[in-house]
Amino acid sequence: MRIIYLLACLLAFVGCGESGKQADHDHGNQGKKALVIGFSQVGSESSWRTSFSESVKAEAARRGIDLKFSDAQQKQENQIKAIRSFIAQGVDAIVVAPVVETGWKPVLVEAKRAGIPVVIVDRNMALDDDSLFLTRIASDFVEEGRKAARWLMEATGGTCNIVELQGTVGATAAIDRMAGFKEVISAYPDAKIIRSQTGEFTRSKGKEVMEAFLKAEQGGKNICAVWAHNDEMALGAVLAIKEAGLNPGKDILIVSVDAVPDIFKAMADGDTNATVELSPHMGGPAFDAIEAYLSGKRDIPKLITVDGGVYTQETAAEEYAKRKK
Ligand code: AHR
Repeated sequence: MRIIYLLACLLAFVGCGESGKQADHDHGNQGKKALVIGFSQVGSESSWRTSFSESVKAEAARRGIDLKFSDAQQKQENQIKAIRSFIAQGVDAIVVAPVVETGWKPVLVEAKRAGIPVVIVDRNMALDDDSLFLTRIASDFVEEGRKAARWLMEATGGTCNIVELQGTVGATAAIDRMAGFKEVISAYPDAKIIRSQTGEFTRSKGKEVMEAFLKAEQGGKNICAVWAHNDEMALGAVLAIKEAGLNPGKDILIVSVDAVPDIFKAMADGDTNATVELSPHMGGPAFDAIEAYLSGKRDIPKLITVDGGVYTQETAAEEYAKRKK
């Protein structure tokens, strides 16, 4: 692999050390050459993810950045291949939205050896060496889980049988949302998660898992609420609950995360109850950090957080009008 990498560097006629790269792209010299940035995206499993990709592309275009976009189709091996290809092309920086937390160290060591800064966006990577990345732009996923649980405990007075639709196994957004939610409900003895399974952050899998939950819980009579790790799975649950002859949002409450336009429509229609917002606009802060680093700034914080509110049916119609495309 190392030999292939060195050959690729030679063929691409770029230096693979920091000094070689700076000479090639001349990014210290304002306006001379466009920055070339590789972006490895998870996939397009949810409409939130699609908005995130669109937002990063639009921000790159606005700044005159030459963005090399790679869609990993939810597979870590595709992300690792994309990162290696970005290194071989001698990009100025790499942005990665990792699908899962573990297994990144070797490829990040390769990027570091090539002198290419890496910015992590959205989900995290489990790393024991923070010199392997420049910064991470992300939301506090634990807090998102807490916010969802606080809303539900308030809405139900703390008495509720909850079914949980988890996100992708091994992804920070699933691990941390689950932990934050559990932390809050643990203070309520009459609130419990009676079933929990992954719906892989997709609408179709969310529906499929919800159908199984409904069958297993007396057609849904034993379920007070759905806690979905994203809006997409919540929308799948809505379909399953309707097909089972129940009223989502009334017979079974639904709380989720993302705040995508479709969930505001569902809330305005009374089908879901609350969502915790996750901003998809992480490209701007990622590019700011890269531009600052490449012009010599070194005191960049290792974590830059984005925050979001909790939205309910009360403001849903108004929010939908603002957010729909
Ligand atoms: O990592 C963030 C999560 O990934 C979003 O909440 C979800 O919609 C996406 O698939």
